Amino acid sequence: MAQITPSPVETQRAQWNTRWGFLAAAIGSAIGLGSIWRFAYVVYENGGGAFLIPYVVALATAGVPLMILEYGIGQRTRGSAPLCFAKTSPYWEWLGWWMVMFVMFGINAYYTVVIAWCVSYLVFSFTLAWGSDPNAFFFQQFLGSTPDPRTIGAIQSPILLALIVVWALNWFITFFGVEKGIERANKVFMPLLFILILILLGWTLTLPGATEEGIFRYLTPDFSRLSEPKVWIDAYSQIFFTLSLGFGIMITYASYLPPDADINFDACVTNIVDTLISLVAGLAIFGTLGYMSVQTGKPFEQIVTHGIGLAFVAYPQAISLLPNFPTLFGAVFFLALTVAGIASSVSILEAFNAAIIDKFGCPRKFTVSVLSILGFLGGIVFTTRGGLAWLDIVDHFLSHYGLFLACILQCVVLGWIYRISDLREHVNRVSTLKVGRLFEISIKYLIPIILAVLLWNDLVADVQRPYGGYPWVMLLLVGVGWLIATLIAALVVASRPWRKPLG
Ligand code: ALA
Repeated sequence: MAQITPSPVETQRAQWNTRWGFLAAAIGSAIGLGSIWRFAYVVYENGGGAFLIPYVVALATAGVPLMILEYGIGQRTRGSAPLCFAKTSPYWEWLGWWMVMFVMFGINAYYTVVIAWCVSYLVFSFTLAWGSDPNAFFFQQFLGSTPDPRTIGAIQSPILLALIVVWALNWFITFFGVEKGIERANKVFMPLLFILILILLGWTLTLPGATEEGIFRYLTPDFSRLSEPKVWIDAYSQIFFTLSLGFGIMITYASYLPPDADINFDACVTNIVDTLISLVAGLAIFGTLGYMSVQTGKPFEQIVTHGIGLAFVAYPQAISLLPNFPTLFGAVFFLALTVAGIASSVSILEAFNAAIIDKFGCPRKFTVSVLSILGFLGGIVFTTRGGLAWLDIVDHFLSHYGLFLACILQCVVLGWIYRISDLREHVNRVSTLKVGRLFEISIKYLIPIILAVLLWNDLVADVQRPYGGYPWVMLLLVGVGWLIATLIAALVVASRPWRKPLG
């Protein structure tokens, strides 16, 4: 095995300065665009308050055990995802590479473009630039969207500019390392995000109709929905994305922990804080939409739109109707989204960065700079007129098939090949809260089975009719192609030697 002499910087693994610093970074990774606007819509669509039952069940049976698994294995092996899997079994190193690769060059490529939209809307807020028709403004003027992904079209320069800003921020934060960059930034970002969300909620509660028309509708439980499998499937799908599980991030972040860090407690804190923030953000979003329903006389159901439309069409429209300081309100909302998004996208960059440093011993500053440029270049296609359709396809394939498959394989490798009982002993030794046999049962059986059901469900739906009505050729080339291309790249990188023998 060829050996490269590590530079002095890499001989010692970076470490978080404080426990709160680690928690801020992990919570920062978890709370993102998915937790803020996706959560709100998923709750509303799946039985309101009643959805919290499947959500908490999913949190307890999948979210907490998987996070303990990722924190535990990262802290124990002190390695990024590829190093962690390579230490578990040399045949599985590729899995670690695949995770960080499709997440960095797939999910992060479009995720940063959505943050770029938020940055643009932060600027637009100051003049309420979306005017009286936010729908036409967003889809036609801002995105210049063409529904057919085969027509890529011109790059939208304002989005490209904002994307440069996003990658410059990612680069700047990660460049200074774990403690001086990521930890410091998150120690500012997380309190700032909490304050912004609380301001939004407090402000929303003063608006007429916000509580009765918005928040009550959002949370009024419809228990009859609990018998529908879709509600449970949505709860589990939301958990994996919102907690950044299967991304290789939590493994990497935990690899910077001291050997006696309280894994189980920290995993519970991350799960609980992410859920609370998602809930509170949902109250603020639906409260504002309730106010809009009262002002326009439009039924609430017609106002609530799915995904992107909620944040960039319905919400701006509601902002314009506010009686006082709408520009400030808009700026607070889009700043909150931007901060949440940047903290998550930095964590994705770091997961890949750490993998390259571990494997090849390249200096951090060089790796971060090259990766930031590549990440930016990878995102350009999503800034074109066909970008929205590309984003939709890549998001569907990576956040469903990619993440579900990665999590299933992670459970198989760590649950069946690695001795999971040893890992349970390890996490219990360092933690105040102890986990029992249910932890092992979740990792070995429950989570892989649930994920296999989710995967099967997606597959059946996608085979029956092309996802989103897009042409098959594009779904295969862009969606499946992205997964296969990153898999091949992962296998190639995994076949290269490590800079030093694995301990
Ligand atoms: N966990 C991040 C989010 O929810 C990726 O957006």
